[in-house]
Parts: sequence; structure tokens; C-alpha cells
Amino acid sequence: MIETLETDVLVLGAGGAGLCAALHAADASPRLAVTVVVKGLLGRAGCTRMVQGGYNAVLTPPDSLEAHLGDTLAGGGWINDQELAWTLVREAPGRVLELEARYGCFFDRRPDGRIHQKPFAGQTHDRTVHKGDLTGIEIMNRLAEQVLVRGNVRALEECRAVELARDADGRAAGALVLDVRTGRFLAVRARATLLATGGGPTMYKVIACSADKAADGIALAYRAGLPLRDMEMIQFHPTGLVVPGSLMTGALLEEGLRGAGGRLLNGRGERFMAHYDPARLERSTRDLVARASFTEITQGRGTPNGGVWIDVSHLGAELVERSFRGMVKRCRDFGRDLARAPVEVAPTTHFMMGGVVVDPACRTALEGLFAAGEDSGGVHGANRLGGNGVAESTVFGGIAGDVMAEFVAGRAAPRPEAAALEAAAGALAAPLGRPRGGADLYALWRELREVMWDRAGLVRDGAGLAAAAREVERLEALGAAVGVEGGPAFNVAWQDWLNFRSQTTAARLIITSALTRRESRGAHYRQDFRAPDPGPLYSVRVRAGDGAPAVWTEPVALTRARPPATAAPVAMETGD
Ligand code: FUM
Repeated sequence: MIETLETDVLVLGAGGAGLCAALHAADASPRLAVTVVVKGLLGRAGCTRMVQGGYNAVLTPPDSLEAHLGDTLAGGGWINDQELAWTLVREAPGRVLELEARYGCFFDRRPDGRIHQKPFAGQTHDRTVHKGDLTGIEIMNRLAEQVLVRGNVRALEECRAVELARDADGRAAGALVLDVRTGRFLAVRARATLLATGGGPTMYKVIACSADKAADGIALAYRAGLPLRDMEMIQFHPTGLVVPGSLMTGALLEEGLRGAGGRLLNGRGERFMAHYDPARLERSTRDLVARASFTEITQGRGTPNGGVWIDVSHLGAELVERSFRGMVKRCRDFGRDLARAPVEVAPTTHFMMGGVVVDPACRTALEGLFAAGEDSGGVHGANRLGGNGVAESTVFGGIAGDVMAEFVAGRAAPRPEAAALEAAAGALAAPLGRPRGGADLYALWRELREVMWDRAGLVRDGAGLAAAAREVERLEALGAAVGVEGGPAFNVAWQDWLNFRSQTTAARLIITSALTRRESRGAHYRQDFRAPDPGPLYSVRVRAGDGAPAVWTEPVALTRARPPATAAPVAMETGD
């Protein structure tokens, strides 16, 4: 018998989106009970805390909401949901002021006292609000403090959602949650549920995102039959650290370095962006810069450890040490002097642009279920601008909190179907009862990460993607049969088995969608279709089908802006 907990609003995930949602819902009425499920510890889990760079918001002329929208759509290859993108840019200035005035964040100031905004790539104005290069820590510390002082918010730490619950009429009814410490399942019955687990492309070999993520929200939504969009759009950030033999490999050096004038050099010392995007150089968008670096590396013009160089030494050591304190220290930890010498970097898997289909009020196709942040898709289209990520999570998290608070008013608590939750718990605990033997979970996981990196990475083609689809299906089947030693309490191998399950589900959606998009656009580059499709713009949709994902396309609604006649440049692979 699974223990039940009742709440009004259930928030799955506790990054920027989850905590803003919890605070907004809690502040809508002190009578509302809000429960937040945190995979780790409150304020410490997820990616928002890792944000170095900052938060895009239009604060002063000559910048404008129209310019921010235009940059976001152009950067996104014009397949964004324009209403979502407009909501982001319209609400971002208010949310950044709320973060300061209501929640106690304090961002860097100009000498005249106004908020300082730094240049980021792909943007026509200096728009990125920041706290040095440790912005996420400022935001998450303040949001977590605010949650702790609200009597109507309860955090379930070291707990994870493992299945969405429905009532007899098929409406969202909360979630089945696993307490990692005790290994016990808990049915959380809720009148509104938010998916805000933060995506997380951790099925790739080199990653920048938080390793505690496993695309759980994507897998939960898929299993619940929800439509997802643009899952092929995986962001590879161009400047992940290269530290041979260290887990630091893949960790970010943020975009402010390129914004401030940092140069990328190949192994021959050439400033290679001049070849790929002569107008914007290193301030080109992440998709182009990452692919350009990848091309240099794979064509033999890389550094000794298989990267390229980022060089900011010409900016002056004093400025670099003052402006980029976090990164200077991070580099010093492994013997590099960012302020005075080039540092080796290479593309790293950073973000999922795709996710659950939502409307601007964060509603999904399932009544009572909402989604915000990286679990949702459509805001960023085919490529996200640096600084639009934390803006997205806090803007849409806040909206979701407000909308859920209104939604639950007068709504009776739905009753989760107990038999379905018991069955799900039984299936999820199955590996604990099985004898070990057969495949090694960690070997399967390494294979998955290699396959995704090699075949569904920065440069793709139909044959490679089809091979990846077969491989992932094989790995998924082997993983499903794995046995895990030990009991349920604090069993890391069991948690990794659950992670692997989510990761393989999301991997299949990425591959299926990538096979369907027979063009190159944004972060999705196919060697067999190197140019953008000149036909109408479309979004790739996927949902659970009969045994395999069902996939289709939908036209992009150009509700606010139209792309210019000339297509954005696509970095082509070049000969020597
Ligand atoms: O760590 C970072 O600065 C990342 C920022 C972003 O992706 O927006």
C-alpha cells in the first residue's frame, strides 16, 4: 500500500522554474498548500544554480522588446512558438525586477546605480543582467531562502517524480514520487501539477548540464501520452572545458567571454570564426560557433587535447580577473591561467530546446498538468540565446505558479488511480528483485552516451541516426532487464537505473525527431541535408504511439514576425 500525501499545487523540480512557481502559487493565497519535489537538496539541485552568465531582459532604450524578440526568433531559426517567445521578452524585465525587489537578489550595477547588462552572443544590444559570472548562485540562494520562510511551501528533498498520476477521467492528479533516502514510494495527490524537472541532455558523452538530471520530465510526459516538440534541437555550447582525465571536461566557460571580445583560435593559432561568420565572429550564435569549433577539431586543426583555444588575455588580466572571477578560479583549479593565456575548450552538450508542448499560460494537453522551463519546448526554437534560459525558467515558472493558483480554486482534488500507481511502483522496483548478471548498467550507459555523441551530436546524417535508433532500442531493452543489488534505501545503482530509463526514452525522441527533420536548422545539422528547407517552416512533434513514438510535423504560426528573405548562415563543413 503506497502512502498518500495531499497538496493543492505539486511542483516537480526545484530549479529557477520550480521555485518561482512555488513562490508565486504560495503568495497567491496563504491557504494553498504547495509541495516541491527536489531531486537533491533545496537550492542546490538542477542547472539554474550553475548559470554563470546571466539573464536577458530589456531594461533601457535603445534596446526594445521588439529587438529582443527579433534576436530570439533569428537565433532560433524561426521555428520558435512566437507567442511563447513574446511572452518571454515581455515578462523578463518585470521578473528581473521582482527577483531583486521581492526576493532579494542583487545584480551588478553601473556607476550610475542602474543594473549593468553585459554583451552576449547573437544579440543586438547589451542585455544580460548578471552577478559577476556567478549569477545562478545569487538567484538560487535567494529563491531557496524565500521558499524556506513560507509556511505553506513544503520541500520533499532527495525525492523524484517517477510517474504522473491521473484520475479515473484521465485528468492529472499529482505524481508517484520516490523518496531516494528511504526507497519508499509516495502518491502525491494534487489539484495542479507542474513539470519543471529541467530537461537535461545527460545521455550525451560530454555535458555541461547538472549530472543529477536525466530528462525525467520529458520521459514522464512521454509516458503520459503528451505531445512534445522539436526534440531534435539539442544545444551544444561551444566553450566547454577540456581537462584530460577530469570530470571537469565539458563544464562551461560562459558566453560573457566571447561577448567581451574573447577570441577562438584553432590549433594553428588561426581565428577560425572569420571563415564561418565573418560579420559576427565569436559573437555568432552558439549553434554556429559550436559547429565551427567541431569542424576545426574533426578536420585536424584542433589543439593537442582535441579542442580549440579561447583567448581573453588581450583584454587585460586585471579586467578578466575582476569580471570573470568564477571562471578564473575554476581554471586555476586545474592549472590554467584564463586571464593571461589561452585555455582549451570544445563543444559540450548543454540544453534541450525541445520539450512538452505548452501554451503561454504553461498549460499542457493534459488538464491539470502544466510545464515550465527546460521541460517545455517552443520558446527557443532551433537554438537558444545565452541568457534566455534563466529568463525562461523564472518567467514561465512565475506564470505557472499564478495560473495554477487560479486553476485550483474551487477544483476538487482528483483521486489518482491507485491500481495504476501500484503497477507503476512494481515495475519501477523490479530491478531490485532480479539477480544480477547479464548486462552491466554502467557499460550500457557509457554506450548510450557514445552513440548519442557520435550519431546524434553536432553533425548528423540519416544513416547515422538510423543506426543510433537501433542501438538505443537495443540498449533500452538490455537496460530494462538489468538487476540491481541491494535494497531500495539510498541505492545509487537503482537511481541510475531509473535515470537510464528516462535517458533512453528521451534519446529515442531526439533521434526520431532528428530523422524527421530533413534539413539543417539551428542546432540540428545534417550532412545529408546541409541547407535549411526553403519550404514552409515547421515544428517536429512526437508522442507515444503504438510501441514506438508517433511523429508528425506542424506549421510554425508566424503570429508576430516573419523571417527575412535571406536565410541565416549554416556553418558548412569545409575542406582544408
Ligand atoms: O552558465 C552560463 O552562463 C549559461 C548561460 C546560458 O546558457 O544562458
